[in-house]
Amino acid sequence: MSTVWEREDYTPDEERLVSAEYTEDDLEIDRSLRPRKLDEYLGQGRVKDNLGVLIDAARVRDETLDHLLLSGPPGLGKTTLAGVVAAELGVRMRQTSGPAIERPGDLAAILTNLEPRDVLFIDEIHRLNRVVEEVLYPAMEDYSIDIVIGKGPAARSLRLDLPPFTLIGATTRTGLLTGPLRDRFGMALRLDYYTVEELASIVRRSAGILGVPIDDEGADEIARRGRGTPRLANRLLKRVRDYAQVRYDGRITEDIAAEALAFFHVDHVGLDRMDIAILEALTQTFSGRPVGLNTLAAAVSEEPDTLEDVYEPFLLQLGFLARTPKGRQATPRAYEHLGMAVPEGSPRQDGLF
Ligand SMILES: Nc1ncnc2c1ncn2[C@@H]1O[C@H](COP(=O)(O)OP(=O)(O)OP(=O)(O)O)[C@@H](O)[C@H]1O
Ligand SMILES: [Mg+2]
Repeated sequence: MSTVWEREDYTPDEERLVSAEYTEDDLEIDRSLRPRKLDEYLGQGRVKDNLGVLIDAARVRDETLDHLLLSGPPGLGKTTLAGVVAAELGVRMRQTSGPAIERPGDLAAILTNLEPRDVLFIDEIHRLNRVVEEVLYPAMEDYSIDIVIGKGPAARSLRLDLPPFTLIGATTRTGLLTGPLRDRFGMALRLDYYTVEELASIVRRSAGILGVPIDDEGADEIARRGRGTPRLANRLLKRVRDYAQVRYDGRITEDIAAEALAFFHVDHVGLDRMDIAILEALTQTFSGRPVGLNTLAAAVSEEPDTLEDVYEPFLLQLGFLARTPKGRQATPRAYEHLGMAVPEGSPRQDGLF
């Protein structure tokens, strides 16, 4: 079989298959497959243990849950987890995002409409603008906000009490959060990439819900290529299901999953064309020299932010990429993956897989 990267009939649409970023297609998948309770939320044992204690304590003391900050790469289950917390507490979840709250008044409107103990989920909280962020401080600390009424000399400030609520903030990068905001969260939890075993159990659960016949080896094969990311594993499952129905009798086995995923350009560790382009740029275009983020982004025609948020974390996790003080470099593992000789002095970096 020729390598999947050589296929001619490749469309940009397929590129997005492996990206953990959110697409329209995901809406429907997410809605049907999203776990509602903590025991349906698979993996992330440490995070779940921490949360379980916090939730039980809030229940026993009959108190509002402390504000939580969830961080981690896209598609690992931050939004899902916020929903699970609200469901476990038996309260409503109101959902918004940093960029959606443009003015302090927008935030004030959301906050004053909360019911006691509600969860307010703010996605991409690192993208809140500073003026809005300052309204959030007293809201988080004292459940109150100061609003200014009127303009000019007649303007006066009014303090409004809010119902007690739990803010759950989500971010792909904690580093971009301001110190004062970070300090106001009672607990910060970081989601990590899922192990292949955890991802396989998510694939089996999803297949069960979708009514797709799959054997354990088939689920493992999808999990191995799912980049440790549930959103992606679910998306791959859906594509493999289509393939198995069109080419075979609908049943997903290891061989059928492998064949389907090769067809969709996902290699055996889950790398897609963009990942390979990044590794080729590092190893060939720049001949293994350290490369700055912007230069690398330009070389593969991708946004630096996307490179940093979406592609790099997984390449780092695999131990294919090293961030050295001088820039990004490919590791010996990356050379081996590309079938290239490892040059002298390429940096060692251990991946977790
Ligand atoms: N622990 C889990 N167990 C089972 N399924 C999960 C789990 N985590 C996530 N999923 C599945 O993955 C999908 C994506 O998760 P979610 O939307 O919560 O990710 P996210 O971290 O909020 O991503 P983004 O950063 O893009 O907002 C969910 O719809 C759900 O189907
Ligand atoms: Mg989300």
